[in-house]
Amino acid sequence: MAKGRLLEFGWAEMDRQHKLLVGAIDFLGRSPRQRTSDLVELRRILQEIKEHFDWEETQMLLAGYPELGRHKADHHRQLLNLQDLCKLVDEGHETLDADFFAACSEWNFRHIRSMDADFVLFRDDREAWDLQRELRSWEYEIRLAEHPD
Ligand SMILES: [Fe+2]
Ligand SMILES: [Fe+2]
Repeated sequence: MAKGRLLEFGWAEMDRQHKLLVGAIDFLGRSPRQRTSDLVELRRILQEIKEHFDWEETQMLLAGYPELGRHKADHHRQLLNLQDLCKLVDEGHETLDADFFAACSEWNFRHIRSMDADFVLFRDDREAWDLQRELRSWEYEIRLAEHPD
């Protein structure tokens, strides 16, 4: 179902939570579609996602991660999307289709590979993280210089 591969960081608790979430979404995607059981399962997954986001944000807070605000905003957007969808399924306006599962997996893999990976780098290797941040700001300045408008 899910395209791509789940990136593992060697941080046992983080990897375990990501695997559980990706597995739960995959499992729901492969189950036969039934509105009532879909809703129960979707709400359970939503709760699991919330708990994962809370856990991750607490780790960031403890580590003094400067990108916490940006990361939180991405978590929040995804939660809102899922909550909206839950409501639509509940009201009978929407069913969980292949597009939903594709979008959900895509968001998951992208978020883990980019934003979660960035935090893990900050936690494990501060020097490499600083260097990466510096390189990004240079790239940004070069792009601005090339396209001043
Ligand atoms: Fe995250
Ligand atoms: Fe995560």
